[in-house]
Amino acid sequence: MKNNVEIKFRCLEDDDCEVVYKWNNDQSLKIMYSGHPFPVSKKSTREWINKVSNPDSKLCLFGIESQDELIGLCGLKNINHVNNNAELFILLDPDQSGKGYATKAVSKLVKFGFDSLNLNRIYLKVQDNNLKAIKLYERCHFTKEGVLRKAVFKVGQYLNIIVMTCLKEDSIVKL
Ligand SMILES: CC(C)(COP(=O)(O)OP(=O)(O)OC[C@H]1O[C@@H](n2cnc3c(N)ncnc32)[C@H](O)[C@@H]1OP(=O)(O)O)[C@@H](O)C(=O)NCCC(=O)NCCS
Repeated sequence: MKNNVEIKFRCLEDDDCEVVYKWNNDQSLKIMYSGHPFPVSKKSTREWINKVSNPDSKLCLFGIESQDELIGLCGLKNINHVNNNAELFILLDPDQSGKGYATKAVSKLVKFGFDSLNLNRIYLKVQDNNLKAIKLYERCHFTKEGVLRKAVFKVGQYLNIIVMTCLKEDSIVKL
């Protein structure tokens, strides 16, 4: 894997509201991940940023920055410290796709989950028509574990959701 792109993880700030609002309402992004189909307001975008920035949140969110520009979001949600697992998510600005940023971000996030949060299993759910994302996760050593048949309804059709996982023991060998 080419690995020469530079990214930084950072907190989201109030000033990021505009770009996150833009991503929240971008149809090309929205049809690729789960979530409600309605438009999202700036007010609720700001409230969401504040809510998830709270240290008590069960969601660990990072802004992905390259050359001082916020280019995407990623994080771990449903963090469970009994079973030591969490669900990974990522979203990249469409203009920044295909440059290796997401590959770098997922690898960094998986390492953070295992090394800093003491997770043992990181899982994710991806629509079976999201070939770009599936390729990305396979490149980052996630394995397909199962299919939730016709689990989401998008643009007039039911789609299968694929569950993919990476275990700590896999990452020790491969990361
Ligand atoms: C899914 C998503 C994060 C994937 O992003 P991406 O642009 O494919 O991923 P990367 O930035 O790592 O780019 C990888 C591509 O860049 C290429 N690339 C270029 N330079 C590279 C480098 N230095 N290092 C690694 N890859 C590089 C790779 O070869 C790869 O191309 P390929 O897919 O044709 O093989 C992005 O499409 C997205 O945000 N989609 C909408 C939200 C979404 O679907 N989220 C996932 C829900 S489960």
